[in-house]
Amino acid sequence: MNAVRYYSKSGNTKLLAEAIGKGAGVIPISVDEDSAKITENIDVLFIGGALYAYGLDKVMNEYLASIDGSKVKKAVVFSTSWISKHSIDLIKKALKEKGIDVVEDTCYVRNKPNEKQLKEAEKFAKRFV
Ligand SMILES: Cc1cc2nc3c(=O)[nH]c(=O)nc-3n(C[C@H](O)[C@H](O)[C@H](O)COP(=O)(O)O)c2cc1C
Repeated sequence: MNAVRYYSKSGNTKLLAEAIGKGAGVIPISVDEDSAKITENIDVLFIGGALYAYGLDKVMNEYLASIDGSKVKKAVVFSTSWISKHSIDLIKKALKEKGIDVVEDTCYVRNKPNEKQLKEAEKFAKRFV
């Protein structure tokens, strides 16, 4: 079983999450939803967020801190931002601290993804499922 989780304030990362969900064959869930909590064993967790003032949003940080690492076999990170890819490092670090195996390759788009980038994100996700 796979899962897609994301946090998006203005919709850019949500678009990417939807494309990844399409590729992975699962419906993406925003981390601020109650149903985002991981209760079953996950083979591949696709997880993404954006960078806001050099950091992740508090909601995203809290979600990452709440993950039960023993339930996630492998994680794949995606992100959008204006210029810095630091969000990717921050998400990866939080997952690794949970003992989760994090795939090196990531899916990144600057701000709002276009149609071509959404197709690429879908293809990217398919590689892991
Ligand atoms: C308040 C705010 C702060 C931001 N800070 C940064 C930043 O420090 N570095 C960066 O590269 N992008 C920054 N951005 C750009 C966002 O990361 C980028 O637009 C991202 O795609 C937003 O994702 P979302 O639409 O999923 O919320 C910032 C955007 C906002 C609104």
